Amino acid sequence: MRSILAALILLVQFPVSAANLPRDFRFGVSTAAHQVEGNNSNSDWWQWEEIPGKIKNGQRSGIATDSWGHQDEDISNMKSLGVSVYRYSIEWAKVEPKEGVFDEKVLAQYSDQVDRLLRAGIEPMITLQHFTLPLWVKDHGGWDWDGIAGAFETYLTKVIPVFGKRVKYWITINEPMSMIAGGYMSDVFPPGVNNLSSIGTPMINMLRAHGRAYHRIHEILEKQNFTPMVGLAHNLIVLDPLHSYNLLEHYVTRRFSQIYNWAIPDALTTGEFKIFFPFMINAKADIPEAKNTQDFFGLNYYTRYRVKVNLFSKDKFEKVVTPGAPVNDLGWEIYPEGIARLLNQIQERFPQMPIWITENGIADADDHLRTKYIKEHLDQIADRIEAGVPVKGYCQWTLNDNFEWAEGFTAHFGFYSLDPKTLNRVPRQSAADFSEITRSVKMGLPIPRSREDQ
Ligand code: FCB
Repeated sequence: MRSILAALILLVQFPVSAANLPRDFRFGVSTAAHQVEGNNSNSDWWQWEEIPGKIKNGQRSGIATDSWGHQDEDISNMKSLGVSVYRYSIEWAKVEPKEGVFDEKVLAQYSDQVDRLLRAGIEPMITLQHFTLPLWVKDHGGWDWDGIAGAFETYLTKVIPVFGKRVKYWITINEPMSMIAGGYMSDVFPPGVNNLSSIGTPMINMLRAHGRAYHRIHEILEKQNFTPMVGLAHNLIVLDPLHSYNLLEHYVTRRFSQIYNWAIPDALTTGEFKIFFPFMINAKADIPEAKNTQDFFGLNYYTRYRVKVNLFSKDKFEKVVTPGAPVNDLGWEIYPEGIARLLNQIQERFPQMPIWITENGIADADDHLRTKYIKEHLDQIADRIEAGVPVKGYCQWTLNDNFEWAEGFTAHFGFYSLDPKTLNRVPRQSAADFSEITRSVKMGLPIPRSREDQ
């Protein structure tokens, strides 16, 4: 009788029949240097922010969250969240402010940060390039420059030995396609080219840079008898036609998805790059150095878009939000099933490649959606793991509200809100909820449910 009662109580508490996450599932938070550190004055973004109209309300990254001045506080907040991974980036523009000139103080600072994290029991996962480029690289032509892969290799050849065996997980480049979409297919990111037919060269250079980096990192660390895990963080977006009966929308959706979601990951397995869109782009390249260069698949997942086609309108193709769908503060659709769909596709294309969710998160200033958003995505992940998809960990974007690129400080993705004047970090309710989740999973319990989730 007692056990029946206990089971009933459990059922009331956990009404959603979600799978459990494995006990060794890893939780983390993600950030990027330019968005949190401040004073990134030798970077292309710093210059970009000075152009009127580029950043909402004319804001600048400035001191950002002053993460270097708040290291102990931020690490102790990560500990209360119960995370064991911190995914963050180091800033090329600070490490190498002028071509061939390295700032040893900056490297020492990054090295010290790793020690502090490890002392706190948090494993660093480091990104080498997250959206920003040094000004001198930009002046050479940025991602269009045919010397960029070599320059990137020089930078990381200096950086990797500083960290040595202390850091296992390396992400070479964050979201190539966000840089391409923001900087080459539109003009919300530098260099602001805004022309679909321009994207071949920078994509190829990103692949070459990654490929060379992959081999170099392995070579440096394997000499020390240490095997790193090297990958790339992909921003995958679920794309669906707006009208299921519209065959043209189906076709365009498939083409965009091939270009945006799969051209880069596929080339990292095959060494062959190809993208095609009728009358706009047809680019191909053999990139042997990129072949089989992912030890894990980094997935940044946020949202879905619908593809709308109207050949008689000025913009023939539009991306629109599913009518009536729930959205975050930036109007991005909240679509947890999307992460499962993408995980299935990754597993089909790259069977048994370990997967890390390197970003997932929500702009939600008043915090009324964040906990539910996280739980719903974790449910989907748990279910896929049970079906055999090897997802190893989940990093939530992000710890503190920060400088959100073109949105400036107006988008609030943090577990902690940030007062831009005092730089005080104040926990949102979802911070406590997340720590309850991480602790439950560690104990082998289901993801906790509250009444509001039902
Ligand atoms: C991702 C970026 C990250 C942040 C989040 C909200 O695409 O990698 O820097 O802007 O979106």
